[in-house]
Amino acid sequence: MCGIVGFIGERPATPIVMQGLQALEYRGYDSAGVSTVTDGRITTTRQVGQVADLSKILEDSSAMLAIGHTRWATHGAPSITNAHPHSSADGSIAIVHNGIIENHEQLRTKLQQAGYEFKSETDTEVIPHLIDYYFKQTKSIESAFHTALRDLRGAYAIAVVSSHEPDTLYAARLSSPLVIGVGDNEYILASDPTALIQHTKKVIYLNDFDVARITTGDLAVTNLESDSPTIPEVELLDLESEDAQKGHYEHFMIKEINEAPQTIQSAIRGRVLANEGIVKLGGLDNVVAQLRYIDRIVIVACGTSFYAGLVGEYLIEELAGIPVEVQQASEFKYRSEPFSRGTAILAVSQSGETADTIAALDKVKDYGVLRLGIVNAPGSTIARMTDAGVYCHAGPEQAVASTKAFIAQVTVLALIALHLSNGSTKDYKPLLKELVSLPDKAAAVLALSDQIKVIAEKYAPARDFLFIGRHYGYPCALEGALKLKEVSYIHAEGYAAGEMKHGPLAMIDENFPTFAIATDSPLLEKTMSNIQEIRARSGPVIALATEGNEAIAQLADDVIYLPPTLEQTQPLLISIATQLFAYHVAVARGFNVDRPRNLAKSVTVE
Ligand code: G6P
Repeated sequence: MCGIVGFIGERPATPIVMQGLQALEYRGYDSAGVSTVTDGRITTTRQVGQVADLSKILEDSSAMLAIGHTRWATHGAPSITNAHPHSSADGSIAIVHNGIIENHEQLRTKLQQAGYEFKSETDTEVIPHLIDYYFKQTKSIESAFHTALRDLRGAYAIAVVSSHEPDTLYAARLSSPLVIGVGDNEYILASDPTALIQHTKKVIYLNDFDVARITTGDLAVTNLESDSPTIPEVELLDLESEDAQKGHYEHFMIKEINEAPQTIQSAIRGRVLANEGIVKLGGLDNVVAQLRYIDRIVIVACGTSFYAGLVGEYLIEELAGIPVEVQQASEFKYRSEPFSRGTAILAVSQSGETADTIAALDKVKDYGVLRLGIVNAPGSTIARMTDAGVYCHAGPEQAVASTKAFIAQVTVLALIALHLSNGSTKDYKPLLKELVSLPDKAAAVLALSDQIKVIAEKYAPARDFLFIGRHYGYPCALEGALKLKEVSYIHAEGYAAGEMKHGPLAMIDENFPTFAIATDSPLLEKTMSNIQEIRARSGPVIALATEGNEAIAQLADDVIYLPPTLEQTQPLLISIATQLFAYHVAVARGFNVDRPRNLAKSVTVE
């Protein structure tokens, strides 16, 4: 979703801000803009479309202070007027904002009554006017900004420049990410570290209610809630700038799918001690005692992370015998359900910034329950607000459709299941051993890419698709359908194969193909029967089967064979195949695979 970049230092700010905005493009956006401050004057340039379109109209500037923004439309359509930065009427204050100001209607009315005129349909435009309103009383941008922030309800990350203080950059955060990169006599502000990694690895993560006042050589942070200055903690980023590059791949999505073997390897490195038969999860060390008393786990997540959570449900229940529920974070936060002290909430999130997942964790803040996280982005909000957690270590994921993060999340969930089982199940050792051989098996699935491409091209004209699976194959069917619809815009539904006769079968005809997950399991025969039923209604079938299953070739139109693995690790291999399928279909249909229409990578508003 929206992205913020700001720079203040002793070199031209515009190229740094523009490069930062480009790095944030993966989050999804539809317009972009920049404000520069030169000789005490603010110049704002905005454009609909890509950052590259903005570059074309941007004039050269020697400004050493600038803010920029990529906007993903929420309030008001994508247009130049609605694009950020937004300014006060006299142009003396310019701001960029991520998040949603929930009380913007009331503030707008109040400001209109005070004579302020609005140009855009955005919630954001109240902010520059509000700062201007208080500046007129106090003659201080800092105090006007603080007072304005106290009026705002909702979520925000904000950067402000003003011609009244042409050497200062202000920033504030509440429930929306903002990080400050610390360079030599310069600071770079960004929504996430990928925008500043080229310049520095030293970062400060702002906390909720923090307001930063940044000049070329100095940074001061005040916390509005405690109304006191805070000492910002400088952390070192564990990220390389090449990690966020496309390399020789045509798209980020295929690059990230191809990273599956090292993703699994990174997730288990130092954690699976196969010779000793031990799983070591350092991130859970400080809650080991509490984990012994857990009698229920509620996994909260959105999108692909939710489906990873569903795989986790099967894994944890089977291995550790602890009841697990997986809930969509957007629903969870509005439910009234009883919680016992023995419940642990486990948030699964690639970005660690998804608004609904954060809200779900917020909801249980005072319940006295353990809050755990499985997060990919280091230092993100969820990583910092949970009591303990396990990082995915998958590196930055740029394509909107999540692929390697799912692989990492499922791997980590398997590790957590093993950890919680404490070796008490017969499945413990075989699973531990199998995880070690999984990177090679993942590489074997990737080698099927050309074969999957041929099948994908054959089915690319389809209008609808059904994905079916049972047991561990069921969440994989849901995720396979999501992946296909996200990038190819084909209507796709995931179903438990056992549900076929309760509705979906009515849809089947020669134009409605099914992607059947029919890997080896005690339930394979039942899935084969479902495929028979689809065939009997002329439905085309692509089957994903385990090597050696020759019978399925008689039933399905196309078969993709996966290497044998345990049922518990099948989701990892199945998902690589469904990801490749979705990718190749989208390419065949000629769509923007990395940035599907209407979608954003990091959904930071409700
Ligand atoms: C968006 C992304 C998905 C992602 C979901 C949850 O919808 O496009 O790829 O699965 O958010 O994001 P999270 O960062 O919490 O895993």
